[in-house]
Amino acid sequence: MNPLDYIKEKINIEPDLGIILGSGLGDFAKNIEDPIHIPFAEVPGFAASTVQGHAGEFIFGQLFGKKVVAMNGRVHYYEGHPISQVVLPVKVMADLGIKNLIVTNAAGGVNKDFNPGDLMIITDHINFTGVNPLIGPNEDDKGPRFLDMSETYNLDSIALAKKVAQEEKMDLKEGVYMWFTGPCYETAAEVRLARTLGADAVGMSTVPEVIIAHHRGVKVLGISLITNHATGVSKEPLSHEDVVLASKKAEGRFKLLVEKIVQVI
Ligand code: 6GU
Repeated sequence: MNPLDYIKEKINIEPDLGIILGSGLGDFAKNIEDPIHIPFAEVPGFAASTVQGHAGEFIFGQLFGKKVVAMNGRVHYYEGHPISQVVLPVKVMADLGIKNLIVTNAAGGVNKDFNPGDLMIITDHINFTGVNPLIGPNEDDKGPRFLDMSETYNLDSIALAKKVAQEEKMDLKEGVYMWFTGPCYETAAEVRLARTLGADAVGMSTVPEVIIAHHRGVKVLGISLITNHATGVSKEPLSHEDVVLASKKAEGRFKLLVEKIVQVI
């Protein structure tokens, strides 16, 4: 069976909004009412989980009266799966009919004005990895071969997020997210390069998913939690433990912002 039909048989709603929950938003899914959990591991065609544990799950349900599907956890390219596996859950959400997608992640701050705990609206991205999920035969029934990227991150959604933050008196940064495949963090020289190229934050996810959502005509809103200074910005060496700690600390604010956005998007 194909993944779309498998999931359609299990759900009783047609979601309008998709949310990819990155580090720091793991708890967010607890708010979803009448949840239907579908672990990625049981969906035909989805990547088997890695040694890191479960790849994640879909949670379908209601959130502030909206029909939503959340991805709790995601597949990262650095795990070694082909890029087609990384973006398959996003293809499924788009083909289920979501109109909007909120993508969240943890990222390192490249902009010297950014500090751990900052929230950043993604206004644009840089993909210099050489990896692109649209490489290969184009799915002509989904979107164009040569995709316009002039408004990859929906301007109305960005305006909405900024308005919500202002109302909540939350500081909200904005900037350009640059994708590195990882799994190693960047060198100091790579971070200088990223800054020179116009990046404000660096991370290991999001860009492939965003490209696929945009290709399928889904409006994208991206939010990064700056968990740490990128290499060389401060003298601190980077550790995954610190990233997890910082995302835990910022969880409350991150959750509040996304909740408020869900209510008005
Ligand atoms: Cl500094 N780099 C990358 N690529 N991903 C990150 C990060 C840095 N901090 C959190 N995630």
